[in-house]
Amino acid sequence: MLEYDPFDRLTAHNPFPVYQRLRDEAPAYYSEKHDFWALSRYEDVVAGHLAPEIYSSAQGVTLEGQDRGLPFLIVKDPPEHSFHRKVAMRMFTPRRVNQLAAFVRETAGRLLDEVVGRDSFDVVHEFSFRLPLDVISELVGIPVALRERVHLLSDRLAHRGEDGSISEDARNASIELLGMFSELIAERRRNPGDDVMSLLMTTPVEEPDGSTRLLDDGELTLRLMELAFAGHETVARMIPNGVVALCWYPEQRRELVADPGLIPNAVEEMLRWDPPSHYQGRWSTRDIPLHGTVIPKDSRVILITGAAVHDERKYPDPEVFDIHREIDRHVAFGFGRHLCLGAPLARLELRIAFEELLKRFPDFGMDESGITRVYNSNVRGLATLPLVVAKDG
Ligand code: HEM
Repeated sequence: MLEYDPFDRLTAHNPFPVYQRLRDEAPAYYSEKHDFWALSRYEDVVAGHLAPEIYSSAQGVTLEGQDRGLPFLIVKDPPEHSFHRKVAMRMFTPRRVNQLAAFVRETAGRLLDEVVGRDSFDVVHEFSFRLPLDVISELVGIPVALRERVHLLSDRLAHRGEDGSISEDARNASIELLGMFSELIAERRRNPGDDVMSLLMTTPVEEPDGSTRLLDDGELTLRLMELAFAGHETVARMIPNGVVALCWYPEQRRELVADPGLIPNAVEEMLRWDPPSHYQGRWSTRDIPLHGTVIPKDSRVILITGAAVHDERKYPDPEVFDIHREIDRHVAFGFGRHLCLGAPLARLELRIAFEELLKRFPDFGMDESGITRVYNSNVRGLATLPLVVAKDG
C-alpha cells in the first residue's frame, strides 16, 4: 500500500522514491493518517498555484498549521494579499537587488576567508546561516551593531522540537525580534535614511477602493519580520543542498571551477534537484474533481514542489544533477500570485555564494559522519554539513 508521511524521518532523508510512486500511482493522494491531499505532478502543482481562488492560502501553508492566522503575505488571499504584496514588492526592485551584489560578495568572501587554512568547516553554521541574514539586515537597514543579536535570535527562532513543533524558546525569540524591529522603526522615524525601512514609512500605498494611506508601525514591523522568516532559512538550507550536489558530482564541480559562467544555470539546477521548500500548503474552497477522484471542499491540500521538480513528465532523468539542463517555468520559488518575492535576491546570493566558495575551495568533500538533518515537514535541508577542504585552498 502506498503511504506518504511527510513527518516520517526516513521519508525526510530521501522522499524522492515515494514522490515517484505518488506521481505514478496516486497523483491526487489522500493521507488518512494526517488528513490531507497531495498533488505531486509538475502540471498539477503549477495548475494549483495558478488557481488561488480554489487553492486558498488563508488557512496557512504548512501541515503543522502553526502559521494559520499569522499576519504574513504568504498566508493571505486578496484583497489583503494584493495590498501588502504591492508594499513588499517595493523592496525588491531590480535596482535595489543589484545594489546588494557588492555587499553579498563582500560578506560571502569575509565569512569564507575566516575558514581558509582550516581542514574543515561547517557549511551551515559558518556560512549558509550567516550570509542571508546579513543580506536581509543590509536590505532593510538594520545597524551593523545589532546584527549579531539578530543572528542569535534567528538561531533560536529556527529551532524546532523533536516533532517539528515550535519551542517556547523560539516563541520568546520571535517576541524579542518583534520588539527589536519596533524599536528600530521608532528610531528610523526620528532619523530617516536611504533604506527600505525609511522608504516603506514614507511611501503611501493604494487601498482596493483607490484611496491611499501610509503603513502603521505594526504593519511595518510585520513586513520586516516576514523577510527575516522568508529570506533566511530558505537560502540557508539551499546552499548546503547545492554543496551536497557538487560533492556527489565532482566532475561538474570541476567544470564550474574552470568556467564560473556556468554557475547561474547550476544554481537553477540545484533549486530543481533538491529545493529547500518541499511543499506549499493550500485549502480547497470547493470540491475539486481531479484524476478520477474528488478533493472535497475545505480540505488541506499540499502542492509538493519537491515532487514536481522531479517529475519525469517534465524533466528527463530527474534524479540526475546536470548543470547544463535547460530549466523553464521553475516551480522551486512557487508560481503565480504567491511567487517568491525574494527570488531575484535569492538567485544573486546563491550565485555569489558558489562563486566565492569555489574560488577558495575548488576541491572539497563531506565528512558524512557529521551530517545532521532538519526535521520539519516542508523544509528539507541540513542542520550541519562538515566540509573537508584541501588546506592550500
Ligand atoms: C532559495 C531561496 C528561496 C526559496 C526556495 C523560496 C521559495 C519560496 C516559495 C516556494 C514561495 C511561495 C510560497 C507559496 O506559494 O505558498 C515563496 C514566497 C515568498 N518568499 Fe521566498 N524563497 C527563497 C528566498 C527568499 C528570500 C531571500 C526572500 C526575501 C528576502 C523571500 C521572500 C518571500 C516572500 C515575502 C514570499 C511571499 C510571497 C507572497 O505570498 O506573495 N524568499 N518563497
